[in-house]
Amino acid sequence: MKIARRIENLPPYLFVEVIKKINAKKARGEEVISFAIGDPDMPTPPHIIERLCQAAQDPANHRYPESEGLPELHQAIAKWYEKRFGVSLDPDKEVLPLIGAKEGIAHIALCFIDPGDIALVPDPGYPVYSVGTMLAGGSPYYLPLTKENNFLPDLDVIPENIAEKAKLLWINYPNNPTGAVADLDFFNKLVKFAQQHNLAVCHDTPYTEVAFDGYRPVSFMQADGAKEVGVEFHSLSKSYNMTGWRIGMTVGNATMINALKTVKSNMDSGIPQAIQYAAIEALTGPQDCIQQHNAIYQRRRDLVVDMLNDIGLEAEPPRASLYVWAKVPEGYTSVDLANDLLEQVGVVVTPGIGYGQNGEGYVRLSLTIPDAGLVKGLSRLAGWRNTRNKFRAKK
Ligand SMILES: Cc1ncc(COP(=O)(O)O)c(C=O)c1O
Repeated sequence: MKIARRIENLPPYLFVEVIKKINAKKARGEEVISFAIGDPDMPTPPHIIERLCQAAQDPANHRYPESEGLPELHQAIAKWYEKRFGVSLDPDKEVLPLIGAKEGIAHIALCFIDPGDIALVPDPGYPVYSVGTMLAGGSPYYLPLTKENNFLPDLDVIPENIAEKAKLLWINYPNNPTGAVADLDFFNKLVKFAQQHNLAVCHDTPYTEVAFDGYRPVSFMQADGAKEVGVEFHSLSKSYNMTGWRIGMTVGNATMINALKTVKSNMDSGIPQAIQYAAIEALTGPQDCIQQHNAIYQRRRDLVVDMLNDIGLEAEPPRASLYVWAKVPEGYTSVDLANDLLEQVGVVVTPGIGYGQNGEGYVRLSLTIPDAGLVKGLSRLAGWRNTRNKFRAKK
């Protein structure tokens, strides 16, 4: 059997060792508290589930869905964008439902990237931007996100020849893993940069509804001319605790949407229709669940950030997203720290290096941990402080 080079050339999965260690601990009957995964722990709100169950009873929804999604869902997405961001979209040409944002993010590379092409990708970043590029035969050119630049890419330092050659530019705000946010000034600048270099912009933004202290993240689509240069990927996963149902959307530039439609219509057969009806309910029904979830995440955020600073892992409270991006204390790499927390106190955090070279020096903690686990996890972190000398002695 000869596996394709496109698979063999993918970077190794960096969490393999950590996962092995977690499983070994669990096999010994030890309890592990995980701050690793950004998967909302609270259930999908009941009115959305009710609509899903109702739609599941209707035989019309037992058949192949239309690949492009129900027209009513296109309309619900357009209305939601209008209401939430004041952005008007043509539901037919500028909206496309997805089987979760991840699916569209991976597939859009096939619309733009031929072998040898370049995509500009943030580092640290959600790994699918670079892996999608590589699966299409292209190469990512990494844009460092540093604290000094508020975890925004510095467009002015991208070499001219790279910007000219690149076809796609990825960004993601509110950001995973850093929790950073971007404002309209940055998005306006990005539109100009994309126009200058004939780039297609993909803004991945599943966390606009997870925000704290009254902050309301903006959409890239609000920037002047955004629709001429790019699309935005969005998701119901985090806004409505719907990760398990797999539903998201892309909106914006009609040519890009049409290209993605072409790829998808040849690869998948759409989103199960009952789930589409649930999504319509989520987008058009009562929105108070968002405030309720955010109040819980905000309380957890404050507890986590306080504890991290207490034990010497410098962290600032994020204004949005589900993540706290904490600085690794001197003497540790991000993998060292993740391993040590797991070994000493059975707490799992994600090493920053897993998100790219510029993620080194940080670990990510997710706020999607139920309160009982959170309390236990925090007290274990407090206990870890006393074990740090052991690590130093071992080195
Ligand atoms: C930045 C980012 N984009 C996309 C996704 C995937 O979203 P979905 O569940 O809609 O596929 C995630 C999930 O964690 C994410 O963090």
